[in-house]
Amino acid sequence: MSTQAQKEQPTKRPIIFSGMQPTSGAGGLTIGNYIGALKNWVELQNDYDCIYFIADLHALTIRPEPAALRKQTLDVAAMYIASGIDPDKSVIFAQSHVPAHAQCAWLLNCFASMGECQKMTQFKEKSEKHSASVGLFTYPVLQAADILLYQTNLVPVGADQKQHLELSRNLAERFNHYYSDTFTVPEVFIPKVGARVMSLQDPTKKMSKSDENPKATIFLTDSADEIRNKIKRAVTDSGTDIRAAEDRPAVTNLIELYGIATGYTQAETEAQFESKGYAEFKSALADAMVAMVEPISKRYQEIRNDKAALNAILKKGAEEANRRATRTLRKAYKKMGMVELENV
Ligand code: AMP
Ligand code: TRP
Repeated sequence: MSTQAQKEQPTKRPIIFSGMQPTSGAGGLTIGNYIGALKNWVELQNDYDCIYFIADLHALTIRPEPAALRKQTLDVAAMYIASGIDPDKSVIFAQSHVPAHAQCAWLLNCFASMGECQKMTQFKEKSEKHSASVGLFTYPVLQAADILLYQTNLVPVGADQKQHLELSRNLAERFNHYYSDTFTVPEVFIPKVGARVMSLQDPTKKMSKSDENPKATIFLTDSADEIRNKIKRAVTDSGTDIRAAEDRPAVTNLIELYGIATGYTQAETEAQFESKGYAEFKSALADAMVAMVEPISKRYQEIRNDKAALNAILKKGAEEANRRATRTLRKAYKKMGMVELENV
C-alpha cells in the first residue's frame, strides 16, 4: 500500500494507548515496569494499532531537575525500544511534542469535579510527600486527555492505574452525554500475572523506581552481578519451603517473578523446588532474571548511544501522533462551542 493510501485509510485494528513517566529515581525503569507494562505492550503490537508515549508533561507535576528530565525522557524512549517496542509497528512519541495533550486537558479540566480528583489515591499519596501543585491535582485529567485524544479502545497498565482509568472513562462518558459522541470510552487492560511486582525488601509495597532502598528494586539496566546480589538479599518469609500463600508474600512474589521469567506456573515452580531451600531457589531465580534482563540492557545501550536514530524515531512518532490528536481536539473544540476560524 502506498503511503498516501495508508494515510487515507483509517486502520481498523483496535487502538491501544499507554505510557510512562520518565522521572523519579535515577536508575531508570524497573522489572516492575517491564513485567507490569512494557512486556504486554510488546505482545500487543501484532494485533493492535499501538501508540506508546513518554509522559514528560506529567513528570513536571513534581518539578524535576530539567537536565534530569531531558535525559530520562530519552532513556525511557530507548528502553521502550530495547524492550521490544518496534517503531515500525507502533507509534512512539514524547507528550510535550504534541500540544493537543495540554489543550485537551484544559477542556477536560472544565469537566472534571474537584471531588473526583481529590479522591485519587495517587494524589493523596504523592501530596503527602511533595507540596502539591495544581498540576499534581489535575494529573489524572491530563492522563484522560492523553488517552481520549487517540480514540483509544484499550489501555494496558499495571493495577495501580485502575482508578485513573476509571476517571478517564467517566470523563469520556460525561462529555459524550453532554455534547454527543466525541470520545471512545476506553477499557483498562491489566495483566493477569505480574500486575503488581512487589519490593524485594518489603513485599507489602510495590516495587518502585523511586524506592530509597536500592536493594528493593531491580532496574532494567542492572548488571548480572547486581541482579544476583539483590535476589540473594531479597527478604523471605518464615519457614523454609518454596510455597506461595497469602501469609507468605515475599516468597509468593519471588515465585511469581520466577514464573514470569521462565514460563512455569506457580504449581510447577513449587513442585520443582519442593525439597529444596531458599538458596537454591534464589540462585535459579537469579539466573532466570539475568536471562530476562540482560538482552534488554544490551540493546538499550546501543539504542541510547545512537542519538540521531532515537531522534528520528521520536520525530516520526510526533508527526503521526499530532495528526491523530489534532483531529480529535478539533472535534471536541467544535462541540464545546469554540469558533472555527474559517467559519467566522
Ligand atoms: P510508574 O513507574 O509508576 O510510572 O509506572 C509505569 C507503568 O509501569 C504503569 O503501567 C505501572 O502500572 C507499571 N508498574 C510500575 N511499577 C510496577 C510494579 N511494581 N508492578 C507492576 N507494574 C508496575
Ligand atoms: N499515570 C501513568 C503512570 O504513572 C502514566 C500515564 C500518563 C499514562 N498518561 C497515561 C498511562 C495514559 C496510560 C495512559 O504510570
